[in-house]
Amino acid sequence: MDLLQAATAVRENAYAPYSKFKVGAAIRSASGVIYSGCNVENVAYPEGTCAEAGAIAAMVAAGETELTEVYVIADSPAPVPPCGGCRQKLVEFGKPEVRVTMCTTDGKTLEMTLDEILPGRFVADHMANT
Ligand code: THU
Repeated sequence: MDLLQAATAVRENAYAPYSKFKVGAAIRSASGVIYSGCNVENVAYPEGTCAEAGAIAAMVAAGETELTEVYVIADSPAPVPPCGGCRQKLVEFGKPEVRVTMCTTDGKTLEMTLDEILPGRFVADHMANT
């Protein structure tokens, strides 16, 4: 299974009764394993989690902390971008040149790097004076 297939498959399991907007994400780790996640909403709306967060959590739970490729897919008019919070979560585990492929279920894609989707990222060096 490739990343697009994994993201497409896991999207089916999204729990999105409130927004009705199902999202699937798949990441490849440095070891080559694919981890996937879907959005999981909650009746207390802010408690919901994004698909990307689920995929990252699966990778870290498996003992890995570096991602090398990202796919996100949703039924959207335009390729669905990771939200701001997920951009920060992704850059925690990926080098700036890591490719993020945003997809729609009808086949549109947009490729950007992590550095392009989150320029000026906040990194540990910013806390050097502490
Ligand atoms: N969502 C994601 O899972 N990932 C994104 O990149 C964008 C938004 C989810 C969160 C919420 O469950 C629904 O999409 C609508 O915002």
